Amino acid sequence: MSEQETSLKRHSGAAAFQYRGEENALDFLEGSEGERGADITRFRRNTGIVTYDPALANTAATTSAITYLDGENGILRYRGYAIEDLAERASFVETAYLLIYGELPSQAEHDGFSRALSDHSLLHEDMKRFYDGYPMTAHPMAILSAMVNSLSTFYPESQDALNLEERDRTIVRLLSKLRTIAAFAYKKLHGQPFTYPQNHLSYCGNFLHMMFALPTETYEVDEDLVKVLNQLLILHADHEQNCSTHTVRTVGSAQTNLFASVSAGINALWGVRHGGANQAVVEMLERIHADGGDVHKWINLAKDKDSDFRLMGFGHRVYKNYDPRARIIKQAADLTFNKLGVRDPLLEIALQLEEAALSDDYFIERNLYPNVDFYSGLIYRAMGVPTNFFTVLFALGRLPGWIAHWKEQIEDPSMRITRPRQLYTGPHQRDFTPMSERD
Ligand code: CMC
Repeated sequence: MSEQETSLKRHSGAAAFQYRGEENALDFLEGSEGERGADITRFRRNTGIVTYDPALANTAATTSAITYLDGENGILRYRGYAIEDLAERASFVETAYLLIYGELPSQAEHDGFSRALSDHSLLHEDMKRFYDGYPMTAHPMAILSAMVNSLSTFYPESQDALNLEERDRTIVRLLSKLRTIAAFAYKKLHGQPFTYPQNHLSYCGNFLHMMFALPTETYEVDEDLVKVLNQLLILHADHEQNCSTHTVRTVGSAQTNLFASVSAGINALWGVRHGGANQAVVEMLERIHADGGDVHKWINLAKDKDSDFRLMGFGHRVYKNYDPRARIIKQAADLTFNKLGVRDPLLEIALQLEEAALSDDYFIERNLYPNVDFYSGLIYRAMGVPTNFFTVLFALGRLPGWIAHWKEQIEDPSMRITRPRQLYTGPHQRDFTPMSERD
């Protein structure tokens, strides 16, 4: 049994499954918060049949001691700590340490970790040349993923995923360099010179400086914006078995190195049903605004089964209640708009949309509430971040979660390669027809 499973309780023979007249006992496993799962690890061996669960909606694909999520009650905890507490009281660096190493750092551990992050903030100068090859219209998520994958070529020692000595260094490298990679992508796509990291700045301050400072002007890091960014990154830092984290785990299960596994996760995050939704929300609000701002028209369109339009930033596979992150982000949006003195007509449309959706039977019956992406894009927009960069910021936030899951899995002696089954629906065996005889 793996170390993470030590808090799992087994209820032997808690259920039985009848198949072809034979009774097969099923054990239940119980997690530390009392959630139960039927153990089907020997199901196929015992019955000859597989279980069918498209999109894995009912499947616990792993045990994990990192994040607890109760979607019915809107609860989210990292390593046991409430997301509300962490967002209010912790730094992103502390949260990253907590997720990856399991405990909040002591002062000495925190200082050592921060110093290591500073030490690794530069990119190899040769990597800068890669940016020259991208067109100005490139989507930054593609750059991000390619650059992270390329890190493995500069640090070949990272390619052995089982190399314990290198693991911590690789983790710190990735955490530190993703910031620089993202900021350099912004500079490239805006035709501006790269701004190098300044190691006296905080993690978030350094990122804002690399993004927005120009050699021609003095750039003062705004500590209020640092606070907001810090909070947003914490809120995005982990969300248990979401699509991108599951991707990182799946790729990592082949004992693939951390850079390559996270690069795959970045690509999964890019999609509009996942992290790409924050970009899609603002694009949707812009469309509604340009169309005259009638939110009811768009609510009706989202309900219309003949249309493929969905209310972006609404709904969640797991939350059937208000996403606790969205609640905190909504407050952060107020703060940011007040602080920057921004009056964004899109915020007004977002508030109207939310109000209309929350009182509409279609959304009520399906438990569709605003999710983390509904307001985050509006904050990034107010900070001056371009729309196609929103998902990059999501990736920066989600990175500690990806790393924590990759590490948890690779350190689990019972880890096996992820390899699901399928129900084949293609043609039966048929004879090969030479091309000359085909119709
Ligand atoms: N607008 C309109 N209808 C919706 C929406 C929406 N945003 N989301 C779900 N529904 C309907 C859906 O049409 C279906 O209706 P019916 O039962 O009549 O067929 C029902 O609600 C259940 O939807 P589903 O697609 O089966 O639910 P899912 O768990 O597979 O999908 C989701 C979850 C997040 C992909 C989906 O709600 C969605 O597409 N939302 C918009 C995109 C979005 O905001 N994504 C960000 C998710 S949170 C952050 C992250 O993961 O990155």
